[in-house]
Amino acid sequence: MSALAIIGGSGFTKLETLEIVRREVVHTPYGEPSAPLTHGIFNGHDVVFLPRHGTAHTIPPHKVNYRANIWALKHIGVDSIIGVAAVGGIGEDMAPGVIAVPDQIIDYTYGRDHTYFENDLSHVTHIDFTQPYTETLRQTLIKAAHTAKVKIVPHGVYGATQGPRLESAMEINRLEKDGCSLVGMTGMPEAALARELELDYACCAVVANWAAGRGDGPITMDEIEKHIGQGMAQVVSLIATFVGIASV
Ligand code: HPA
Repeated sequence: MSALAIIGGSGFTKLETLEIVRREVVHTPYGEPSAPLTHGIFNGHDVVFLPRHGTAHTIPPHKVNYRANIWALKHIGVDSIIGVAAVGGIGEDMAPGVIAVPDQIIDYTYGRDHTYFENDLSHVTHIDFTQPYTETLRQTLIKAAHTAKVKIVPHGVYGATQGPRLESAMEINRLEKDGCSLVGMTGMPEAALARELELDYACCAVVANWAAGRGDGPITMDEIEKHIGQGMAQVVSLIATFVGIASV
């Protein structure tokens, strides 16, 4: 099997039932990753786990050192990454509690270090990003969901916003007009950086709330945390099955 890493998002700072083998501190030319890389055995298979927001969930989305995280994983030999992320639901089929495996991205973030290709270049490089997620990895996740009997929506357009504030209702209307069905703050530049380093990458998104203006009243952290808690149990079961299938 290819070496697999899970990047955990909000509500997923550790991978339950991971048998931890060792923690590895990696220093990168781009600074420090969000946490030491945790090597472990998950459902009988080797995985590396990295909590995107830090071990104590203290790094907000716009402050995550995405370049260091992806570089560190590449450096230790990882070649596939599943990025787990909490998102808001925009599309009608993206109600709180839904797990989605998006197939497209629109990037609205700004001011983030979003590329490895900027200094000391021998030539200018433009990666292909027509399909921002690795389709084979997405399909394996979808297959794992069927096998594990975890209900998922096998598509979605992830609108990546800057945060850390949530969006206005009109911003969500605009995202919907653009074609977004999900909104989150960490999907980019993570996916593009993985592509720049030629790593396979797919996203497993847990809908934590109706996006701004789509539910009843304001979005509360209580609501977000409740749905993340419920959704993450499903994600753990999905990933447990995924590692089994991906290792064949
Ligand atoms: N917007 C952006 N990011 C999010 C949301 C949201 O509504 N919910 C969880 N992450």
